[in-house]
Amino acid sequence: MATHVSSAACLSVPCQRKIQRVRAVASEDFAAVKTNGNEKVKLGASDLKVTRLGIGAWSWGDTSYWNNFEWDDRKMKAAKAAFDASIDNGITFFDTAEVYGSRISFGAISSETLLGRFIKERKEKNPEVEVVIATKFAALPWRFGRQSVLTALKDSLCRLGLSSVDLYQLHWPGVWGNEGYIDGLGDAVEEGLVKAVGVSNYSERRLRDAFERLNKRGIPLASNQVNYSLIYRAPEQNGVKAACDELGITLIAYSPIAQGALTGKYTPENPPTGPRGRIYTPEFLTRLQPLLNRIKEIGDNYSKTATQVVLNWLIAQENVVPIPGAKNAEQAKEFAGALGWRLTGDEVNELRSLASEISPVIGFPIEYL
Ligand SMILES: NC(=O)c1ccc[n+]([C@@H]2O[C@H](COP(=O)([O-])OP(=O)(O)OC[C@H]3O[C@@H](n4cnc5c(N)ncnc54)[C@H](OP(=O)(O)O)[C@@H]3O)[C@@H](O)[C@H]2O)c1
Repeated sequence: MATHVSSAACLSVPCQRKIQRVRAVASEDFAAVKTNGNEKVKLGASDLKVTRLGIGAWSWGDTSYWNNFEWDDRKMKAAKAAFDASIDNGITFFDTAEVYGSRISFGAISSETLLGRFIKERKEKNPEVEVVIATKFAALPWRFGRQSVLTALKDSLCRLGLSSVDLYQLHWPGVWGNEGYIDGLGDAVEEGLVKAVGVSNYSERRLRDAFERLNKRGIPLASNQVNYSLIYRAPEQNGVKAACDELGITLIAYSPIAQGALTGKYTPENPPTGPRGRIYTPEFLTRLQPLLNRIKEIGDNYSKTATQVVLNWLIAQENVVPIPGAKNAEQAKEFAGALGWRLTGDEVNELRSLASEISPVIGFPIEYL
């Protein structure tokens, strides 16, 4: 699935789309197109194929949560190296959002703008390169109705320098209701501005409503992007994972390595700094140690790192595409090593059981509404 680079930024290329009735697909239909480490999977019942793992670009240009509130040329070069290393290692699916790095979130430079630059520079060197780009609409309280979705999408395309985006997602549910936003997603598909549409942070009830509303127009709801990791298994408990499997919607797992806490890099003596330090406290990291020790032991048997084991655990849940955030080439390269092998069923169950002994960190409360 090639992403189109706009020759003139901000020009969209509308196309006619044949409307088909959507068929619900169960999780066993989540068929791999190839079976090696670079396999691709269909996103829900859409025609969009993505790599088994994507890369999250929230930290690129962000100075409100990541990067110790600073952004400089060195960090930008590292982010570009993360983008290039991902592609070099077979990962071509990237997730961004209009709010990442933007002024509204007190960021230094928009993640979409950076990603757009990286794509353009890569295509100049390597015109055949194919990337799949996902971005998100911010359901801000002063945005009403379907037209606001199209307006925001066109602004995103402009920053990305693309004529269409592969996946467009509603970043979180709207305060005043979601029907208008869902209709806007459908309009974006029909105008040829996006290839597939999804939601994010949607509860089971909201997911079913969105699915039904798009289904009436013959448009599949491709994905629901939610917080999901070995130590944050709310989607297994609140019905979201089961509903995704039943309706044939891919679950895109964000914060899949618990923002670094599951990599083994942070310890009670060396907790993360900044806002993450308030979530992954020394006390929490102390409780995490037995699980981390077992993750490392299992990883050693496969010559894999803890990061690769916890990403592989998510992939083993089926119908899940994790999107870990990479700040540099080393991190991106390490993610690629999560692919092309499988934990056993016993290991998957043992890790869940060990993880269930740790009370989870607080997630995004909106998931439960
Ligand atoms: N839809 C939503 O509401 C939502 C919410 C959150 C995230 N997301 C998406 O999901 C993506 C990923 O989530 P996330 O960034 O919150 O968390 P994450 O992927 O669990 O963690 C990413 C962080 O872990 C550290 N890290 C990465 N690779 C590592 C490695 N190999 N070894 C050690 N540490 C490593 C890095 O930070 P340090 O190097 O500083 O430790 C990195 O920024 C985001 O980029 C975004 O696209 C979406």
